[in-house]
Amino acid sequence: MKKLTAVLLTVLLAASFMISCGGGKIDIGIAMPETHVERWVKDGNQLKLEAETLGYKAAVQWANADQAIQNQQIQSFLTQGAKALIIGNISEGVGAAVTTAKQDGAVVIAYDRIIQGTHNYEYFITFNNYKVGTLQGQSIVDGLNLASATAASPRYITLFAGSPTDANANFFFQGAMDVLLPYINSRALVVVGPAPKHYTDSAFQQIATENWMPEVAKRRMEALLIGDARNVTLDAILAPNDTLARALLEACKADAKYQGSLPIVTGQDAEFDSALSIKNGEQYSTVFKDTAKLAEAAVLLADQLIKGETVDIPGTVLATGDLEAIGFTGTGNVKTLLLDPILVTKNNINVPVNAGFYSDAQAEQLK
Ligand code: BGC
Repeated sequence: MKKLTAVLLTVLLAASFMISCGGGKIDIGIAMPETHVERWVKDGNQLKLEAETLGYKAAVQWANADQAIQNQQIQSFLTQGAKALIIGNISEGVGAAVTTAKQDGAVVIAYDRIIQGTHNYEYFITFNNYKVGTLQGQSIVDGLNLASATAASPRYITLFAGSPTDANANFFFQGAMDVLLPYINSRALVVVGPAPKHYTDSAFQQIATENWMPEVAKRRMEALLIGDARNVTLDAILAPNDTLARALLEACKADAKYQGSLPIVTGQDAEFDSALSIKNGEQYSTVFKDTAKLAEAAVLLADQLIKGETVDIPGTVLATGDLEAIGFTGTGNVKTLLLDPILVTKNNINVPVNAGFYSDAQAEQLK
């Protein structure tokens, strides 16, 4: 009896040691970049749920926008025996962890954000990020009625972009600029502050927002309002996502000039707070990306790759032709699957609501 108790105790101790070290075996490791942008919290939880639904043991970690932390998290997933990794990376620095994963024979899927600097991994699954940008640009064209603007009576805009380490930020910006450039070139639309036309222009670094931090964007906006934009009234702000859009709106609201008439501000992610702001006539637009569908598709992809099956993911298209650029890692192309984004303004706020994107209580507030 004593012996049995001792054996049991040892087993229990070993088990609790493994759990406290996060050492339980897992099949799928989910590495998400950050929590300060709401979507990633949802993405991580949804991915884990989808993986468990397909019968996998899954673990999720968020890295606080710090690549070194994420690399440790990936390393620990591999130590726990992960057969597949679904990674929303922070920067190219993820490459070292991807190399280890490949040595371990694990499947690697770049989730939403491309892994740059290597193409030695299986797939990239994301939204058509160039289209996200064109939708943002189009909402400015429509919202400002740019067709009726002229060089003699132009509209004024200032530009913000996402993180310089996130290739998505380039596509969002370029998509928007390709729509806005004809108006900028005819001077019907005047850019106030730094005015890159392409993400490779050096001025892009000035409008980029380190790690997508709202306080960084807000600080630059505040400086702009008393600097370059002091003698004009801004009609629009190109904002790459909702978290930044709300920070920029806050800065405008604190300025007497914009009391009661805010500039048109774009966004992305259909975050609840932004949806509410759109409903209340503050933020102008957002881009809805159904991340629940992205998570479902990514896990199905992991499942097919783990089993060595032919990849067939409903609701996605393989990036070919012009879209192939979305899958360029800097060293070569990775196979890229795309989902479709949707522009949302006050007129169709019911689209994300009807897709079940919000909780019931939130949906109620958006009616
Ligand atoms: C994602 C956006 C998100 C941004 C900031 C991008 O890579 O595609 O949905 O708003 O990162 O986290």
